Amino acid sequence: MAKTIGIGICGGIAAYKIAELVSKLRKKEFEVIVMMTDAATRFIPPLTLRTLSGREVISDLWTETLEWKVQHVGIAEQLDLLVIAPATANFIAKMAHGLADDLLSTVVLANTAPVLVVPSMNTNMFENPVVQNNILTLQRLGYHFMDPDSGLLACGVSGKGRLPEVDDILTQILALMAPPQDLAGKKIMVNAGSTCEDIDPVRYITNRSTGKMGYALAREAIGRGAEVILVSGSTQLPVPPGVQFIPVRSAREMCAAMLAQQPGCDVIIGAAAVGDFRAAVAAEQKIKKADDGSGRVTLELVQNPDILKELSKSKEPGCIMVGFAAETENVLENALSKLAAKKLDLIVANDVTMEGAGFACDTNICTIIRNAADIRHLPKTSKESVAQAIWDRVVELL
Ligand code: CTP
Repeated sequence: MAKTIGIGICGGIAAYKIAELVSKLRKKEFEVIVMMTDAATRFIPPLTLRTLSGREVISDLWTETLEWKVQHVGIAEQLDLLVIAPATANFIAKMAHGLADDLLSTVVLANTAPVLVVPSMNTNMFENPVVQNNILTLQRLGYHFMDPDSGLLACGVSGKGRLPEVDDILTQILALMAPPQDLAGKKIMVNAGSTCEDIDPVRYITNRSTGKMGYALAREAIGRGAEVILVSGSTQLPVPPGVQFIPVRSAREMCAAMLAQQPGCDVIIGAAAVGDFRAAVAAEQKIKKADDGSGRVTLELVQNPDILKELSKSKEPGCIMVGFAAETENVLENALSKLAAKKLDLIVANDVTMEGAGFACDTNICTIIRNAADIRHLPKTSKESVAQAIWDRVVELL
């Protein structure tokens, strides 16, 4: 059965280019349902899109239909992919805040299919932090975005904001309709989250990791066809559907679980923030306050195993091992020495002191390092996009 793509057109000058996109999608035998905002109908006549899509163009929330079903719910249920192009700053804001005051915005809310957003607007509008925040909010929720092209804009200025080439949008649509199955048949193990080291029955040592990076890696690998084992320390995140989930608490438990699952793994990624130290003895009873007047309590710490080092001792030929390096200074130098010390194939370095990088945030600023001569910097982007880039790099090595 032909797949159905919803094309939501907003009121921007690039709206006319969507006619070509609709025509190309029809030639590829997709069903195309065109929805237009009121403003979009001022830039391109619905008749053009009706003719090209071979269907009625929908723009009015209040049209009476013969079907018993509420119009926007009925449309949303048919979609395999929803594309918003051109997406204006206003429409992106509406999506980011759940507003539903016209046909297209109600379809967006009722829709459960993947969404591809293709922004196009004036450079200053695009770069405005309010717009960028709205984009991040949506990326965090799993919306896919295409970066605008740079060039001369209709408003006369030169900069970022042009609608990408129609063929590039088409390529992105095709990729989303059928994600590359380049990890099919691969057995992958990812660890994620923070470990907890008990001090006594009520207290423990942990860290600020939320697990978002590791979970994004697991979700992306599932989407690309892999068999995924997710060994997870503490997080507040939902378990990604399709993974084999192994919850653990301490670094030693995590290490034991991973060593047991290691045979046959094609890729192992250490994204967990493993606690380096634990209490030498976890007290059986709650430790009492010092009553000797010193105001001091001494806790002896001992070092935990380094999980990646342990795994690399029994690394099987062909297995790719990837680690992260959370650094606060000398990022590249420290990452390179961890790459060597842990016998890794790749290390993903980030300076956790930078705004928008590291623990407990939704973006990351990473560098993927193969060796001193092969260092690839990624821009500040969502953890989902970082996960995609890491898997792309791993696939090159596999
Ligand atoms: N790691 C590990 N076992 C540990 C500590 C870290 O497997 N006990 C892994 C992490 O999951 C990460 C990589 O090693 O992939 C680097 O972790 P990081 O915290 O940056 O470095 P450490 O090795 O702990 O070194 P240091 O804290 O001294 O910088």
